[in-house]
Amino acid sequence: MDALEALHQRVSVPRLVGPAPTAVQREAMYRAALRAPDHAYLRPWRFLVIEGEGLEALGELFGRAALVQADGDLSADVLARYQGLPLRAPLLIVAICSHSEHPKVPPIEQDMACAAAVSNMLVAAHAQGLGCVWRTGDLAYDPLIREGLGLSSHETIAAFLYVGHPAGELKRVPELDPQDFFAKWPPVQGSATRT
Ligand SMILES: Cc1cc2nc3c(=O)[nH]c(=O)nc-3n(C[C@H](O)[C@H](O)[C@H](O)COP(=O)(O)O)c2cc1C
Repeated sequence: MDALEALHQRVSVPRLVGPAPTAVQREAMYRAALRAPDHAYLRPWRFLVIEGEGLEALGELFGRAALVQADGDLSADVLARYQGLPLRAPLLIVAICSHSEHPKVPPIEQDMACAAAVSNMLVAAHAQGLGCVWRTGDLAYDPLIREGLGLSSHETIAAFLYVGHPAGELKRVPELDPQDFFAKWPPVQGSATRT
């Protein structure tokens, strides 16, 4: 797929099925992630690749965290829902932002580099006919999840990236007009500030 077509047509795919991406498809996604812009080449990211029994283990961890968040007051149904969350795709990539001290690169720039890496993976997945969705939610910030996934104090979860094959038709690409978001500066007096 043409690069611009992939960029223009990518949509999130929440309903995903197997098979999991092949080794070649994964490698293409990983390489795309590692080409994200990265101030001072800090490589402020690492990724956990979870599939098979790992997804069930992550589901157990989600369930434990949800129970703690609810002070133990969780119905069996709701608990099962949390436990099933990671099973919504055959492959889950946890993108972790690893902040380091740098005189010119504050943590927010490292977060942005990490987000760009995730975004590159979304597009690389789409370009290969895969489906992908970036999720976070409360659990991404939960101490039990952080501990269970082995995060250090200088790390944050940027994304739970669910990857697989689209279960049905892709949704329509929303129609957004670039003119609504891009304006000339300084504005031209007496005329609309459109590009
Ligand atoms: C940092 C971040 C966190 C997100 N977390 C969630 C989430 O937890 N659940 C969700 O449904 N969508 C989440 N989204 C949004 C989807 O990934 C998706 O971008 C959005 O639904 C728009 O769909 P589109 O990508 O097809 O335009 C998140 C996006 C970003 C950038």
